[in-house]
Amino acid sequence: MSGHDNPIPMTARRSGPLTGVAEVPGDKSISHRALILGALAVGETRITGLLEGEDVLDTARAMRAFGAEVTRHAPGAWSVHGVGVGGFAEPEAVIDCGNSGTGVRLIIGAMATTPITATFTGDASLSKRPMGRITDPMALFGARAYGRAGGRLPMTIVGAAAPVPVRYATPMPSAQVKSAVLLAGLNAPGQTQVIEREATRDHSERMLRGFGAEISTEDTPEGRLITLTGQPELRPQTVAVPRDPSSAAFPVCAALLVAGSEITVPGVSQNPTRNGLYTTLIEMGADIAYESPREEGGEPVADLRVRFTGALKGVEVPPERAASMIDEYPVLAAVAACATGRTVMRGVKELRVKESDRIDAMARGLEACGVTVEEDEDTLIVHGRGPDGVPGGATCASHLDHRIAMSFLVLGLAAQQPIGVDDGSPIATSFPVFEALMSGLGATISRVDG
Ligand code: S3P
Repeated sequence: MSGHDNPIPMTARRSGPLTGVAEVPGDKSISHRALILGALAVGETRITGLLEGEDVLDTARAMRAFGAEVTRHAPGAWSVHGVGVGGFAEPEAVIDCGNSGTGVRLIIGAMATTPITATFTGDASLSKRPMGRITDPMALFGARAYGRAGGRLPMTIVGAAAPVPVRYATPMPSAQVKSAVLLAGLNAPGQTQVIEREATRDHSERMLRGFGAEISTEDTPEGRLITLTGQPELRPQTVAVPRDPSSAAFPVCAALLVAGSEITVPGVSQNPTRNGLYTTLIEMGADIAYESPREEGGEPVADLRVRFTGALKGVEVPPERAASMIDEYPVLAAVAACATGRTVMRGVKELRVKESDRIDAMARGLEACGVTVEEDEDTLIVHGRGPDGVPGGATCASHLDHRIAMSFLVLGLAAQQPIGVDDGSPIATSFPVFEALMSGLGATISRVDG
């Protein structure tokens, strides 16, 4: 578990050109799903390129607690001997999901239609996040949840003994909610349906299909309708996890801010439900080329070639793009601070319930660095100061949030004075090699000696 117990203060300083190849780790969303679906298949699933970040390692431990055999063979190479749909055993101990909202929410979905009881906990950040968005649909299947006030962890879930299929319209754009309902639907008889008004990341649908489930998606006037036929026998798969576009965002944005940079990021997922940041950066004037497009592990991937081109210009990000770049707004806010003109991000209130309140965390940190921001419940506006215009010279609070920590460190590479973060330890949840990878490209990022 990461957190304030052993904070790791870090600093980034203005750097010379970033160059080279940035091999970012495997996709976090796909890594969680590969372990969970592997645990629900009958037989051995092989995974390569698994993200070995703390969030995913917590999910691997959880799958063992529910009875799957999970083995690490080499870096990123894992196998999962699954127990089959409905085959989860009752865990003997509390399941600690650490910092991971995806982990806890998907695992609750995966166990809620099996007649077992499990108790979930997490770190200080996860314990503040809303779980009602998951337990509400789980109750429709027949599961019961006993948590703290406001539907917070720690929480005990009593799985449904006689689950019924569910038709559920997600009240907010959330791939976690959609995925939890689909995973719960696996062990319900008949057809479970999810309707989402805006398309969110579709890794669960793609992977369920790959594991042999009957699942279809159609666009309807109410939104995207996903229909899953329950109680399939899932067949084990070989899953090659593509590199994470959300992690790639950090070296890519750093290269766009540091004069003279040119980097390549190979094998990054180009899934259209994930690439909103890249579309936005190109609209701002970024030079990003997609080379060698191909398919890996059921996902479109390409090699990204990124060149510094000078000043980027502020843009209005269309709210309907939010779901496809929801994790990238913090680093976009850092880029926007170095752009010319305003960057307007509307329709982003979901950022308030991530690992931290990301609107507040970015706004306060940017202000401390000398950048003007405006915000309301659903909006963040950053007034760009131009390529050399961010004063910096502040230490920003990361609030147990990996993406806040990395975003301010990226900004520090281009600011006039160094930018620090009070705690870089959460970076290990999603991007454990961040420091080494960025230093390898030429970034001056260091730990601050206590
Ligand atoms: C994720 C969905 C998103 C995202 C998170 C990963 C997933 O969360 O922010 O990092 O893997 O399904 P929401 O479902 O809350 O939007």
